[in-house]
Amino acid sequence: MLRISSCVIALLLSSTVFAAPAVTPVASGSAAVASAASSAAPAASSHASSASSTAKSKSSVASSPSTFPAASATVAPISLELNEVLWNSSDSGPDPQPERGSLGASILGPTDVFIAKENADALAPPTTDHGTVGGAKWPFSLSHNRLQTGGWARQENTDVMPFATQMAGVNMRLTAGSIRELHWHSTAEWAYVLKGSTQITAVDSSGRNFIATVGAGDLWYFPPGIPHSLQATDDDPDGSEFLLVFDSGAFSEDDTFLLTDWLAHVPVDILTKNFQTDPSAFAHIPSTELYIFPSTPPADGNSSLPVSPAGLIPNPFAFPLSQMEATQLNGGSVKIVDSRSFTAATAISAAEVTVEPGAIRELHWHPTQDEWSFFIEGEARVTIFAAQSNSRTFNYVPGDIGYVPAGMGHYVENTGNTTLTFLEIFNSAIFEDISLSTWLALTPPELVKAHLGFDNETLSHLFKSPPTVIGPASA
Ligand SMILES: *[C@@H]1O[C@H](CO)[C@@H](O)[C@H](O)[C@H]1NC(C)=O
Ligand SMILES: *[C@@H]1O[C@H](CO)[C@@H](O)[C@H](O)[C@H]1NC(C)=O
Ligand SMILES: *[C@@H]1O[C@H](CO)[C@@H](O)[C@H](O)[C@H]1NC(C)=O
Ligand SMILES: *[C@@H]1O[C@H](CO)[C@@H](O)[C@H](O)[C@H]1NC(C)=O
Repeated sequence: MLRISSCVIALLLSSTVFAAPAVTPVASGSAAVASAASSAAPAASSHASSASSTAKSKSSVASSPSTFPAASATVAPISLELNEVLWNSSDSGPDPQPERGSLGASILGPTDVFIAKENADALAPPTTDHGTVGGAKWPFSLSHNRLQTGGWARQENTDVMPFATQMAGVNMRLTAGSIRELHWHSTAEWAYVLKGSTQITAVDSSGRNFIATVGAGDLWYFPPGIPHSLQATDDDPDGSEFLLVFDSGAFSEDDTFLLTDWLAHVPVDILTKNFQTDPSAFAHIPSTELYIFPSTPPADGNSSLPVSPAGLIPNPFAFPLSQMEATQLNGGSVKIVDSRSFTAATAISAAEVTVEPGAIRELHWHPTQDEWSFFIEGEARVTIFAAQSNSRTFNYVPGDIGYVPAGMGHYVENTGNTTLTFLEIFNSAIFEDISLSTWLALTPPELVKAHLGFDNETLSHLFKSPPTVIGPASA
């Protein structure tokens, strides 16, 4: 026994001894690459030497060898593997498998094929994905649905999607005439009507009032704390369905201030004083909240709105986005709506984007705003780059929510064969993005070449103004 273990120790020692010198050839190899690079490209040598002196000063500060890779001139180039999406939700071929090229192997145990079909880049991720990025997808189909007489509501917030810290969403359906009861909340509310039309009313702190009927593709917005109502009209026999977005990730639709809930929790003595009448006037106040309930469809137009001595709310809480002309782009279109056009909407801005098959919403980021996105039509793929080599790809189908924190680079690719339509929504007054292509186009080309090794032909493809959506590559 003793003999064997000393043998093992000897082996271990010898392997350590033999492994150690291997470090030296690697180091001298990269030095050789660096000197070859600087002699081949004299223009780049000043960058290379300043980079290596920076690296030296860093490593002299560090007490243990740095885990950061060497300066760019000595780093191997990226792989040219295309890493395309491998299937889409409607592919009728064999069940998808976690295999990409020579990586992975088929599934032998149980699996949810339906979810696998919709999430190709979860099961067979591109090899460019790396590290940890939070869950940036939530399908409303997985939300608990609150069913009421007259409609339903389902929500997404940090309880189900912890990654989405700055905004939350609700999908709500009201049958014709049904009411989402009079209420308020301390967050702003931004809405996009998906079908039918909804009549909205509000009163502000100056005693001014507002009424409007908001149709499919149009918006409404209520500032924080403003009391309001929503009622589906019978313009569409099915009533109305809409998307609501709130500027707090922790918002809960079950936690709003409801008219009936309040009055059921105030002493009747106080009600008699407040409304200057006797207790019998309150005999019909519901003892529990109504939330969503059926009623008679509202009258057309604004005839039912009482005239306020303070007048109407001057900046309308509704915006006819469906009538706004989209900016046509190579590969799609965009409508941007923020407080420059929808002046009341000071806490939430948005873009409605279309992307044709094979085109992409270009590589970009939003300087200070998180993005809460909602997929309306088509299929999409998004890779979020979260710095420190962390990158993760997600797939989206209609009814899915996406999320990209401020600053994180991303794109949106149409991976289907129909038009992709989605909303980008931000907790800001002004829509802003930074186009990667435009950043590089407006930076001294020698700097860009020094980083990416682009030739003049490739540099000539950069866009000096943001293309936003870019059609399929002509190559
Ligand atoms: C009703 O709408 C008409 C036409 O848009 C407008 O002139 C009028 O001021 C509105 N009245 C109220 C009470 O909103
Ligand atoms: C799904 O992918 C296949 C193969 O890539 C493509 O031919 C088909 O058109 C796609 N279907 C949809 C609905 O996007
Ligand atoms: C899109 O893809 C679906 C499913 O793969 C197919 O049935 C359909 O014909 C395709 N449409 C077009 C326009 O290519
Ligand atoms: C690339 O463009 C620069 C600036 O116009 C020029 O000086 C250089 O010669 C070009 N390089 C090649 C390989 O054409």
